[in-house]
This record gives sequence, C-alpha cells and structure tokens, in this order.
Amino acid sequence: MSQRYPNPANLESEILRLKREMNAVILAHYYQEDDIQDIADIIGDSLELARKASETTADVIVFCGVKFMAEGAKILNPSKTVLLPDMAAGCSLESSCPPDRFRAFRAAHPDHLAISYINCSAAIKAQTDIIVTSSNAEAIIQSLPQEQKIIFAPDRFLGGYLNKKTGRDMLLWDGSCMVHERFSEKELVKLKTRHPNAHVIAHPECPESLLNYADYIGATSGLLRFAEQHPGEEFIVLTEAGILHQMKKRSPGSIFYPCPSALDGGACVGCNTCEYMKLNTMEKLYRCMRDRTPELILPPELMVAARRPLDRMLTMSAHMQSTAIAQASNA
Ligand code: 13P
Ligand code: SF4
Repeated sequence: MSQRYPNPANLESEILRLKREMNAVILAHYYQEDDIQDIADIIGDSLELARKASETTADVIVFCGVKFMAEGAKILNPSKTVLLPDMAAGCSLESSCPPDRFRAFRAAHPDHLAISYINCSAAIKAQTDIIVTSSNAEAIIQSLPQEQKIIFAPDRFLGGYLNKKTGRDMLLWDGSCMVHERFSEKELVKLKTRHPNAHVIAHPECPESLLNYADYIGATSGLLRFAEQHPGEEFIVLTEAGILHQMKKRSPGSIFYPCPSALDGGACVGCNTCEYMKLNTMEKLYRCMRDRTPELILPPELMVAARRPLDRMLTMSAHMQSTAIAQASNA
C-alpha cells in the first residue's frame, strides 16, 4: 500500500504535530533551505548547534544539517535518537580526510597536538586532541603555548588563515570546502566595482586570494552579527547562499550580493550553495520524523573516543566566553 503524504500546504503543521508527539527538537544550520530555517527551533552555526545539542532535554534531535553535525549531536547525546533527513548529506572536508591516512599522518608527527575542525567524521574526531569550529578556532589556538607543535585538519584554507592570525606554523591537512574554494575572484572584483560602498564579508574557509579582499572575516554567526551591526548598508557575501535568508530577515534595510562561483565562468547561480546541505527538504524532514528514520547510529566506543575532544572544545569555549563577559563588565 502506498504511503500517504500530507498536502504540501500541511507539511509545516504535520512537522510541528510530530515534533510535539515525539518530544523532538529541530536544529538547523544557516545553510539549510529557507523553509527549514523557518520551522527549526534553533538555527545556528556549527558551534551554536553543538552547544544546543549538548544542552537539550528533548528525546529526539532532528538535525537539519550535514552528517558530521548530526554525528556530533549523537556523540554528545548517546542515549537520544538523532535523525538526519538525508543520510547522504556529506561534506567535502569530511571526505578529504580518511581515518587511516590521518592515523598515519599523526603517527609521523608524534610530538604534535592534533586540532581538527568540527567538519570531520567521528572517526577523525576520535583521533583528535581538540575540536574547533570557525567561531572559536583562533581563541583556542591562541590559548595554547606558542611552542606547542600542532597538526590542523582537514581545512587547509582555514588552517592557513589561522596560521596567519596566530603567527603559528601548524601542519595543515590538504582538505577544502568545495563551496568556499570556488567563489570567483573575477566576479568578486566586478561586484566591488559595481558596489564600491559594499562591505566584503567572507568565511575563513575561503582561499587567501579571496580573503585578501574581505573587510570582515568570520564564521557564519560572525558574518550575521557584522551585518546586523551595520544596518542599511551593502554587503558582498562570500559564504554559502543559505545565510542570505537570515541576513535579509535580520537586516531588512540592507542589501546583500552573493558572490558567484567560478564554475561556468560565474554564470552558475546555484553554485554558491552546498549540494549536501540542500539534500534536506521539508518533505524529507517530515518523512524522517514520521518514520523515525534515517537514524544516526554510531558504535559506543567510537562515541566515547570522539566525545573527549568535543567536550574539550565546549569547556574551553565556555571558559573563554565567561572570561570575555567578565572583562567586558569590568571595563
Ligand atoms: P560554521 O557553521 O562554523 O560557520 O561553518 C560553516 C560550514 O561550512 C558548515 O558546514
Ligand atoms: Fe562541507 Fe562546505 Fe558543505 Fe559546509 S559548505 S558542509 S564545509 S562542503
């Protein structure tokens, strides 16, 4: 017998009904499609979502993001059900770093601490000393002794940016984000010429050649904040285009120009989107909640090993945040 699907007009109310019935929380990354961002309980960048996942009291976490993010939620909540609308939602950074090659790399540098960007698999997290996100990487690295040798994986562009910011010489894994590495410098220059007053705001996953044009560099939450702090102004945006939905909602009087990708000579409108993030749809979200599948399952011993560097990040990051708040209130 064929499954009955709600009328698309009722999808939203059906998702909300299922959410109540299951005692679920819906977490969504800023790169998700607009409707998913609008129905989510919490939208955020990788750090905000990891924090919220570690604090939730819901029985079920529905993660609208990519697989490594849902894995993070499961690792922090081993007894909860974690659902991901499409299990094929991977990441080019994650796939650039196979666990056996990373193990050999670590073994070749036994005196190095391994710091991994959260955009990696649970198997890489399990071999890592400290996880970082683009929001907290610089502060966490700065907090370590200058003489500490470090391996940074898997994003060579974020790693290069951090080396420059912190004056370190971290050994970099050779991975990259396929969305951020393909923005077109030529199209960026054209946009800057057409809109000379626009701020160029960029995610540090972009190559240095693009970051050199940026007036502000930051994680997705940082880019959003920067735009909110400059209401009524213009911005050329070098990150995944899903963020524009929140930028326009939060800064309705501002104008945002997404930077085109270099594919198709800059003519490809959809190329500044992440095809993995966009695998999740409202229909798949509804179906995964109705059928409680696909569910993310990880071996218990892998979760234990992968949790240590994640907890370390959350603790270091919470400590830095409370110190910053204390300093600001004493100033
Ligand atoms: P942040 O969420 O840390 O900004 O990272 C962006 C990203 O590429 C997530 O996949
Ligand atoms: Fe991975 Fe890049 Fe997609 Fe983020 S935007 S999930 S880093 S491929």
